[in-house]
Formats: sequence, structure tokens, C-alpha cells
Amino acid sequence: MISKPPHIALAQTASHTSRPARLALLCLAIGTIFIADTLTDYEIAVAVFYVTTVLIASAFLSVRGVLACSITCCALTVCSVILNDRGAYQAGLINCMLSICAISATTYLALQRSSALQAEQTSRSQLVRLSRVSTLGELATSIAHEVKQPLTGIVASASACRNWLSSDPPNVTRAEQAVARIIADAGRACGIVDRVRKLSKRASPEAEWVDAEILVAEVVSLCRRELDRHDISVITEVIDGPAIVFADVVQIQQVLINLILNALEAMAGTKRPSAMGVTIGIAMQEESAQITIADTGPGIDGNRLDEIFDPFYSSKEDGIGLGLAISRSIIESHGGRIWAKSDLVSGAKFIFTLPARQSGETQTSFQIATSVSRRDSD
Ligand SMILES: Nc1ncnc2c1ncn2[C@@H]1O[C@H](COP(=O)(O)OP(=O)(O)OP(=O)(O)O)[C@@H](O)[C@H]1O
Ligand SMILES: [Mg+2]
Repeated sequence: MISKPPHIALAQTASHTSRPARLALLCLAIGTIFIADTLTDYEIAVAVFYVTTVLIASAFLSVRGVLACSITCCALTVCSVILNDRGAYQAGLINCMLSICAISATTYLALQRSSALQAEQTSRSQLVRLSRVSTLGELATSIAHEVKQPLTGIVASASACRNWLSSDPPNVTRAEQAVARIIADAGRACGIVDRVRKLSKRASPEAEWVDAEILVAEVVSLCRRELDRHDISVITEVIDGPAIVFADVVQIQQVLINLILNALEAMAGTKRPSAMGVTIGIAMQEESAQITIADTGPGIDGNRLDEIFDPFYSSKEDGIGLGLAISRSIIESHGGRIWAKSDLVSGAKFIFTLPARQSGETQTSFQIATSVSRRDSD
């Protein structure tokens, strides 16, 4: 799960209690149950309510924390029996045993549930990575082309540099300019390799503030070769921008690649008289940015608009049916939403939202934009 951007986290403090506050509430609940158990008759098994505190603890504490909470509850149950002197002692002993059994069973089940959730999380991130690697495989020619461009530039500039230096007299100024071009091109090539390496390797999400337009431009450049091969144009429109989104760059780029490849596959499979094109819209809203990927393909039947997000739903012969399911899981982990629209006439439209901030602070957006572009030459 991606941590919330600072302003959203602030806005949500009322509904999402912080960890120390939860710990204080947990202690208060345990204390209240202890007092009630000690002050009521032996026959009333108040201690059984300790199971709720174990369940609460399992929602935010580590395995050790849950065990500590469980042991404390069992110890307090015994203390209450010792300190209490109301009612039938034997009934108190039986209730005490039953409560300890209930607390232990609940602890066991809660820990089992936590480890199952952890395992689910791990396999989900492995699946996301595998799907990313397979997507990159599809884009191999496009990426090779992207890297080849700066390499060709380097060869041309190096040869020019040699000519300027071997001329009589050597033209050092022009040679220096050629070297500067070599450095810039080498930086570009390194940037592309670095991006691809990140896309294929990194599994743990890391969110940062980035300009959505730059994010989109990087993806379009990776897909450029595939788009050109199918004669598909791409237009990017920014409304009320720039939109600075809080996102894990690698994951959101994976979503964009999935959506662009789907659009491309949908359009490549049809012979439409009209020109084929993808329009990527970035629109800034109050606390979120809405990114739309619209194509001029055959569109999607209205009844299938939800179904297509189900894992393993695919209408393609060689499709796995994971692209949209993974995209939905990524967008939701960012606190956004993704959905599809289509009227079977003008093509399909996929829309997703991401937490964003208005870029009234032009300075900040410029800095973020620069830092993203600079990764190319790092
Ligand atoms: N732009 C689109 N136009 C028309 N149909 C689409 C579009 N995008 C997705 N679909 C439909 O949604 C289905 C699911 O898409 P999804 O990306 O999840 O899987 P896939 O593309 O079939 O396989 P893969 O796992 O390789 O991506 C597709 O098979 C297709 O029927
Ligand atoms: Mg797909």
C-alpha cells in the first residue's frame, strides 16, 4: 500500500487514528475490561471480551505485539479471579479457563490471518513484477529503438569531433560542442536503460510527487516504436495543469503501458476508415488528477465494462487477462479509482484518478519536473 500524500494524510487524521492513539485506546479497552471483570461477580465472564482487544491489536501491531497483548490479557484474567471475591469461586475458575481458551484461539487465528495477508501481499507484488517483465518483453523492439537513437547520435558526434580535431588548425570550439552532444546522448541512453531496469526489477512501491505529463511522456517514448509501427498517433492534452501527482512512478508507468498497449491491440485488430489515434488527457481536479486514455478502436460492449477488470478475463487469443486487473490493484493502492467507458462508436476510454495537488506553486512543479527529467542524465 502506498502511503498517503502529506496533505491527504492531514485531511484524514480525523477518520484514521494514528498508531500511538490506537495503542492508547487498546490499553484503555484492556484496563476497562480488567476493572469490569474484577468488580463483577465470578459468574459474569467479562474477560471473554479480551478477544476483541486481541483482534484490534492484530490490525496494527506486529506478531510480537499481538502475542504481548494476548499474554497480558490472559494474565489479567487470572489476576481478576485472584482479586475478586464476589459470587461462586468455582464458576469464576471455569469462566477464567474458558476466557483464556478463547483469547488463545483468537490470537492463533488472528496471527494466521495476518500471515495469510502477508503472503497474499507478497504474491501480488510478485505477480505485478512478472506482468511488468512480460509487458517489457512486448516492448523490446520499442526499447531497443529508443536506446539506438542516442547511440547513433553518439557515433555521429564522435566522428564529427574527430574531424574537428584533425582539421588544420583544429577547431576546438566545435569539437567541444560535439563532446557536449556525446555526453547528453550518453546520459539519455543511460536514462532509458535505468528506467527499463527499474521497471523490471523493483517490487516495493515508493511514492513521490511527480508531474503527470512527464510520466506520460516517458511512457509514450517507450511505446513510440510500437505505435509508429501500427501508424497510431498519440496526442497528450493537459487541462488546468500541470498536475503534480503522488505516485510510484514505476507502477503508474506500468498502468499507462498496459492501457496504451490495450488501445494499440484493439485498434491494430480493426480496419477502420478513420485515422487511428490515442488521446491521453490529464485534467487537474480538486485533490486529484484524472488521466484519460481514449482510443478510436472498436470500443467495449456496455455489459463488459466491469468484467474486463476481472483477473484472467481476455478476449484475445494470446491474452492473459491480467493487464487491467493489475492496473486496478495498483491504482487502488494509490488511493485512486479506475474505470472504463465506451459507446462502441467512438472507441474505448479508460479513466483513472490519482491523488494530486494544484500546481499554484509553479516553482515546486518545476523542481519536480526537472528532477524527473534529470533522471535521464543521472
Ligand atoms: N482499449 C480497449 N478496447 C477494446 N477492448 C479492450 C480495451 N482494453 C481492454 N479491452 C478488453 O479488456 C480485456 C482485458 O484486458 P487486459 O489488459 O486485462 O487483458 P489482455 O489485454 O487481454 O491480456 P494481457 O494480460 O496480456 O494484458 C481485453 O482482452 C479486451 O477484451
Ligand atoms: Mg492487456
